Amino acid sequence: MLLEVRDLHVEFHTRDGVAKAVNGVSYGVDAGETLAVLGESGSGKSVTAQTVMGILDMPPGRITAGEVLFEGRDLLKLKEEERRKVRGAEMAMIFQDALSSLNPVLTVGDQLGEMFTVHRGMSRKDARAKAVELMDRVRIPAARERVKQYPHQFSGGMRQRIMIAMAMALEPKLIIADEPTTALDVTVQAQVMDLLAELQRELHMGLILITHDLGVVADVADKIAVMYAGRIVETAPVHDIYKAPAHPYTRGLLESIPRLDQKGQELYAIKGLPPNLTRIPPGCAFHPRCPMAQDVCRTDVPPLYEVTESDAERGSACHFWRECLHG
Ligand SMILES: Nc1ncnc2c1ncn2[C@@H]1O[C@H](COP(=O)(O)OP(=O)(O)O)[C@@H](O)[C@H]1O
Ligand SMILES: [Mg+2]
Repeated sequence: MLLEVRDLHVEFHTRDGVAKAVNGVSYGVDAGETLAVLGESGSGKSVTAQTVMGILDMPPGRITAGEVLFEGRDLLKLKEEERRKVRGAEMAMIFQDALSSLNPVLTVGDQLGEMFTVHRGMSRKDARAKAVELMDRVRIPAARERVKQYPHQFSGGMRQRIMIAMAMALEPKLIIADEPTTALDVTVQAQVMDLLAELQRELHMGLILITHDLGVVADVADKIAVMYAGRIVETAPVHDIYKAPAHPYTRGLLESIPRLDQKGQELYAIKGLPPNLTRIPPGCAFHPRCPMAQDVCRTDVPPLYEVTESDAERGSACHFWRECLHG
């Protein structure tokens, strides 16, 4: 396994109390594989990713348990200096909002070039040539001219391509893309997602794709981990999940995908709100919103049961995963 997160726990000390943002998350991704991490806003997707990247704000964040194994070594045990070497060269991150992640006072050519002057000791001239090459690679038209422009002179979709180029510059083994297309309109979303998937295949990278939108991952992900209140509630190969979810929360998410072929149909959204993370409900955290909840759900935290009816490796943290699967 290229990256393996094991039983990660992260909390935030807030005026409201201790927010338990990540409560025992385990997931992994191999070289050449795409893991989609899915869940509503506030489920701990980004905090988990920030912990993997080593960019979690500490304080207020605190890692209370777990391991982040990258090619077998625990990144949480590295000194900041070693950690910095891993970041950028071995793993890189793409964020939702390119405008606030790119430096507004540097040209994109200088920013892309910096990756090579700083990390690879290249001359400015060679670095500039590399920048143009990267912009071509992410299919920004007229790269040779546009390399002299500033981030605000690009459209949202083009800026996102520049972020992808930055992330790929040093050919990392792992890329984490945190809602990389959420801020874009639908047609541009698809183009950027296709580009990301294509580069991932070409470079045989591991990709963790974070999104709240099941619709965008169907074509690109190999497997899915669904998060709720800081836990993984379902994990499965992507096709299995679309065929039959084994958790009522996943079912709710699936039914919330707008279908272009069913115009006028009312959009199903899961009733209620995700819990306050300083006061996660006892038992299954999803029980107050769950249409299938029974007494046991209000008292007993469901472990990640192995979904034994599947050929593939599959898990569901629902006491009634069988009923859900056949429901
Ligand atoms: N800097 C922070 N300070 C305090 N609490 C935070 C901070 N970042 C995240 N959290 C808490 O962690 C929860 C999960 O956040 P996040 O991982 O960003 O969710 P998402 O699944 O939307 O990416 C938030 O709802 C919040 O309670
Ligand atoms: Mg997030």
